[in-house]
Amino acid sequence: MTESPMTAKFANPYGYFSDDGREYVITTPHTPRPWGNIISNGDYGMMVSQTGSGYSWRGNAGQNRITRAFQDLVRDNWGKYFYIRDLETGAFWSATYKPVMAPYERYTVVHGLGYSRFIHQVQGIESVLTVFVAPEDPVELFHLTLTNRSARPRRLDVTSYLEWLLGFAPDEHREFHKLFIETAADVGRHALLARKCLWGFPDEHGRHNNVDWPYTAFMAASVPLKSFDGDKESFLGLYQTDDRPRAMSQPQLAGRIGRFGDAIAALQVEVYLAPGEARTVVFTLGAAEDGREDAAALIERYTSPEAAAQTLEAVHRFWARFVDTERVETPDDALNFMTNYWAKYQAISCRLWGKSAFYQVSAGYGFRDQLQDSQIFLVSEPAYTRRQLLLHAGQQFVEGDVLHWWFSIRGGGPRTNCSDDLLWLPFILDAYLKETADYSILDEPVPYLNGPAAPLYDHCKRAIERSFSRFSPRGIPLMGDHDWNDGLSAVGTLLKGESFWVAEFLYTILGSFIPLAQRRGDGRFARKCEEVRISLKEAMNRFGWDGAWFLQATTDDGLPLGSHQNDEGKIFLMPNIWAVISGIADDDRSQAAMAAVTEHLLKDYGPLLNYPAFTRPRRDIGYVTRYAPGLRENGGVYTHAATWAVWAYVLIGRPDLAYEAYRRICPPNRSADIETYKAEPYVTAGNSDGPQSPFYGRGGWTWYTGSAQWLHRVATHWILGVRPQEDGLLVDPAIPADWPGFKITRRFRGATYVIEVENPNRVGRGVANVTVDGRPHAGNLLPVFADGAVHQVKVILG
Ligand code: GLC
Repeated sequence: MTESPMTAKFANPYGYFSDDGREYVITTPHTPRPWGNIISNGDYGMMVSQTGSGYSWRGNAGQNRITRAFQDLVRDNWGKYFYIRDLETGAFWSATYKPVMAPYERYTVVHGLGYSRFIHQVQGIESVLTVFVAPEDPVELFHLTLTNRSARPRRLDVTSYLEWLLGFAPDEHREFHKLFIETAADVGRHALLARKCLWGFPDEHGRHNNVDWPYTAFMAASVPLKSFDGDKESFLGLYQTDDRPRAMSQPQLAGRIGRFGDAIAALQVEVYLAPGEARTVVFTLGAAEDGREDAAALIERYTSPEAAAQTLEAVHRFWARFVDTERVETPDDALNFMTNYWAKYQAISCRLWGKSAFYQVSAGYGFRDQLQDSQIFLVSEPAYTRRQLLLHAGQQFVEGDVLHWWFSIRGGGPRTNCSDDLLWLPFILDAYLKETADYSILDEPVPYLNGPAAPLYDHCKRAIERSFSRFSPRGIPLMGDHDWNDGLSAVGTLLKGESFWVAEFLYTILGSFIPLAQRRGDGRFARKCEEVRISLKEAMNRFGWDGAWFLQATTDDGLPLGSHQNDEGKIFLMPNIWAVISGIADDDRSQAAMAAVTEHLLKDYGPLLNYPAFTRPRRDIGYVTRYAPGLRENGGVYTHAATWAVWAYVLIGRPDLAYEAYRRICPPNRSADIETYKAEPYVTAGNSDGPQSPFYGRGGWTWYTGSAQWLHRVATHWILGVRPQEDGLLVDPAIPADWPGFKITRRFRGATYVIEVENPNRVGRGVANVTVDGRPHAGNLLPVFADGAVHQVKVILG
C-alpha cells in the first residue's frame, strides 16, 4: 500500500494512484460519485464503493444475489456493514464511512486488484478492514484489525449487519420473498446461516416459482459470538435506519432467528484493547451449493486470521497471473497504468465475471459483449478466450443467428434480427487464431441451440451465410433490429433499412475468413466470400458515400441517416472509422472520412458517437433519439467506439491524432478535471457527456463497459503496434513523435519477447532497424520462437 502523497500519481482532491499504478488510493468518502471496486473470482463476486456500500452474489449478480442492495448512486446506502462500539461511552461508528458516517480522524480507501482496504480512525480506534474474495471458493472475507491509538484501555464490540436477498434481484415484493427464507445459528462455528426454498426460475415443466434456491448462505466470525440477530426489525428497530440502529442502544443483539422475520445476518463479537494493542477479527460470508459444497467446511477453512492472510496472498498471485504476463513501460503513466493493470482487471473481474457494477447489473452474457471482452485473455490465458468462443457458438441457431444475450445461470434469452451479433464470432476467432495459431479450435464440435453439434468452423460459416441472406436490393446488409448501436432500434425492423457499418464489418471479417476457408479446403465458400466482398466494396462506395463522409444507415422508409441532409445525427463515428479499419474505402476517402471525424466529432473528451445529438424522439430511428441529447449513444463520447477511432487514426498514418484520441478517453487523465468528470479515474467509463449536455465531459456507466478491453487493445496493438500475425509478432509502432521510445514485455506462443523500441530521430513510426537476441533481423515481423525462452528485441524507429 502506497500512501505517501510524495509519490502520488494523477492526484486530485479525492485520491491518487500508487507509484506503480497497481492501487488507487482514495482519501475521503466524499468522491463525486461512488468510486468502487468490482471483485470476482469468476463465480462469487461483490461490489464495494468507497463508502463501504455494495452487495454480493454467487454465479450471477442478477439471478443469484446474496445480499440486498438497490441501485442508488446518490445515497449509495446498501451494504454489508460493521459497527464498532465503545462499550464504556456507548459511542459507535462503522468500519467504513457508511452507514454511521461518524466524524473521523482519518479515512483512506485503497482499491486494488481483487481487494479493497478501508483505513478509518474514529475516537482513537484505528480500523483496517480488507475485503476480498477467495480465488477458489464462493467465500468473501473481511479481515478487520482494530488498533487502540488512545491512551486508555478500550472495551469494544463489533457488529456485522447485512440483509439476505438469496435469489433474483431486485426482490421488490419483499413480503412475498420473505415467506421463503429461514435463518439459523451455528453457535459452535460462530455463524448464522440462511436458506430460501424458492427461486425465480421456472421448474422443469416450465411452471413458475416452485423451485428451490439450492444454497446455504452463511456469515461467520473468527471469535465466539457475544450475541447475534437474524431479524431486521429487532436489529434496526421499527422506523429506524441503519445509521442509528436500535441494536446500538442495546447491550446485546436479540437472537431472533427462524422463518418469521425479515432476514439479516448480525454477528456481535467483543474486542478488548490495551493502549497500543491490535487485534484481528475475520468475518466470512458465502453461499455453499447443495450437493457440491458444505457451508461448515467453508467456514472452518477460511474464518481465521491465518487463513485470511493466506487467502489474500492467493488473491495477489491469482491476479498476477492475468496481468503480469504483459507489461508496457512508456513515458505515459496513464497508458501504463490502464494497460498493465486496470483495463485488464476491469475487463476480467467486472465485465467477464462479475457482469455487474453500480450503473448496471446484468444477468447474462451479451453475444457480442463478452466475446469482445474475452480478447483480454489472449496474452495471459488464451484458453479462456477459446472457452468463450465455444460458449458463444453454443448460443447459435442452425439458421446462423444467435441469442442477443442469454442468462448465464440457466440460459435462455431473446432471439432477434440484430444484424451484427452473429458476425462477432468469426471476428473474435480471427483475433484468437492470430494470437495462438490454434487451428484445432475450428474442429471443436459445438451443438446449435436447435440442432446437433457441428465444428466451430461451420458455426462461423453459418453466421456469415445468414448475413449474406440479409442484403438490400442495392447489396448493402440490412439493419434488422439494430447493428452494434443497439439504440438504432427502429431503423430497419421491417427488414428494408440498411446498415453501412455492417457492410464494413462484414467486409473486414470476409478478409480474414477467405484464407481460413481456403485452408479448410472450402474453396467454394471462399469464392463466394470473395464475390460478396467485391460487391460490398462496390455498393458501399456507391451508396454509402455522402459526399464528405460515409452514411450510417438508411431507414425502412429509405431516408439516409448520418448525412449532411439530416438536421440531427448528421455524422456518425462508426461508419467513418470502420471504412478505414475494414479497408473498404480507398485512401482518398479514408483521409476525407477521418478529416470529417476530426472536424465534427473529435471534441475535448474524445470522439463523439454522432453529431448533432437527437433532440426529439424519432419513431423511425429508435430509442437512441429518446436519450437526453449528449448522453451515451446520442451524441456522447461512447468510449467503446471511441477506442476504434484510435485504430483508424493509426491506419491513416496520423499517430498524433491517434494518441490525442486515446489521451482524451484514458481515464487517469481526467483526474485533471475531476469535478467535471466525476467518475473513477482508474477504470473506463461507458460514456462521457457530449457538448449538448449541460454536464459536458461527465463520465458515467463506469466498470461495466466493453471499452476496457478495447482501450487495452488499441494501446498495445495500434499505438505501441505490437500485433500477433499468423506467422509472427509484428512490431509497427505509431507513437507520439516526441517519445524517446518504450518497452513492452509480452508472452507470445510460449515465449517471452522483451521489446525495446527507440525513437532517436523523434519520428514515432517506421521501423529502421531490428535486432533479435543481439543479431540483425530483417523486417519487423518477429519470428515465432515457441521455445519457452526469453528473447531480447531492439527496434530503432527512423
Ligand atoms: C451496449 C451493449 C453493446 C452495444 C453498445 C452500443 O454497451 O452492451 O453490445 O454494442 O451498447 O449500443
